[in-house]
Amino acid sequence: MEVVINIAVLASGSGTNLQALIDAPDLGADVCLVVSDRPDAAALGRAETAGIAHRIVPWAEFDSRADFTKAILGEIETSDAEAVVLAGFMRVLSGELIAAYRERVLNIHPSLLPAFPGAHAVQHALDHGVKLTGVTVHFVDEEVDHGPIIAQRAVPVLPDDDVASLHARIQVEEHELYPRVVGAFARGQISVEGRKVRWE
Ligand code: GRF
Repeated sequence: MEVVINIAVLASGSGTNLQALIDAPDLGADVCLVVSDRPDAAALGRAETAGIAHRIVPWAEFDSRADFTKAILGEIETSDAEAVVLAGFMRVLSGELIAAYRERVLNIHPSLLPAFPGAHAVQHALDHGVKLTGVTVHFVDEEVDHGPIIAQRAVPVLPDDDVASLHARIQVEEHELYPRVVGAFARGQISVEGRKVRWE
């Protein structure tokens, strides 16, 4: 496989999206570092199993978001990462990191943004009774779940869905979509002008 760029993945939880990136054939990117804010994140075990360098930057040990972000940025800068991929990272990063990696920080979110930003997107979709929700991959800017949208997939909401069943169907799409987007980004096939993202 030709490695085009190195990426750092930030993850707080189970890390199934991280795993999809690790397992993707011909991703065109190499995961060189995994960073988690939670010592108990299963994502760290996935990194360990895959032989990927991993670090814990515990949120609770910092007085401010800026200091926390600075510590994360320090880890990324001492790796060879050229881009940052958020995969279930549940902390908001301060502007310093966004500025340092402008249009090189990607996030995946379990709704069709701009609908249902925030940590409870799947619950909110159910609460609103929408018939379609989905997945968004976007560049990260200074606002939460807000930056230019790169790709979206729709997922129907079924009458008997609860958070677990709907999220499970959304994740099937996530695991297919995120490696595609990261791969296209790594190969330089994605460009951004203002809020408009083009695929070449
Ligand atoms: C995903 O649903 C992603 O969209 C959201 O957090 C979840 C992470 O899942 N940002 P996992 O840790 O990759 O399994």
